[in-house]
Amino acid sequence: MKYLSLHPSQACYLLMPSIVTLIITQKPGGGYNAMTACWIMPVSRIPPRIAVAISPRRFTYECLKTNPEFTICVLGPQHEEIADYCGSVSGRDENKIEKLEQKGIKLVKLSKIKTPGIEGCLAIIGCKLWRDYEGGDHRIIVGEVVECMVQEDKFRDTWRDVELLYYYGGTRYLSVRVPS
Ligand SMILES: Cc1cc2nc3c(=O)[nH]c(=O)nc-3n(C[C@H](O)[C@H](O)[C@H](O)COP(=O)(O)O)c2cc1C
Repeated sequence: MKYLSLHPSQACYLLMPSIVTLIITQKPGGGYNAMTACWIMPVSRIPPRIAVAISPRRFTYECLKTNPEFTICVLGPQHEEIADYCGSVSGRDENKIEKLEQKGIKLVKLSKIKTPGIEGCLAIIGCKLWRDYEGGDHRIIVGEVVECMVQEDKFRDTWRDVELLYYYGGTRYLSVRVPS
């Protein structure tokens, strides 16, 4: 068997595709921001904690430093355009939430944190920032899950009968069907 040697900086791509989410945060001056994130993983079930790798250059990181809570919205294939938009434009330059609202997307309120989710996404996980570790060119943001909700017909112990959206670099997205 022949292996191709890659530059170590390419290793991250060998661990993708990864599920696509939106990270919603509160902006320092009021209002909310949405950023696409796929470097995300559970790190503890009890207590429930999830880690997201977020570059300190993102406006999202600045938002987290002023308001230490966020929601994770799990996207489906119908949200590819939203993922692309929120993953290529910074909240420093555009009010992304306002743009989404103009397209008819509504916000969903949570009960334990102020930050909302996006209506139509498959699941919403509300987190309080627990730790912020050094990772490298990304920070490891660990959130403690305080609330979570899922579209009722799409989950019974695990995902059922649903299409999930995955990303594996560049503009490459993948839709994965989970059987019932
Ligand atoms: C599919 C996709 C996944 C992404 N995943 C991450 C990620 O996990 N962490 C990160 O820091 N940036 C990620 N990005 C890049 C940010 O979403 C992008 O830089 C965004 O414009 C930052 O927005 P903000 O400045 O409003 O926070 C991703 C982009 C795309 C398109």
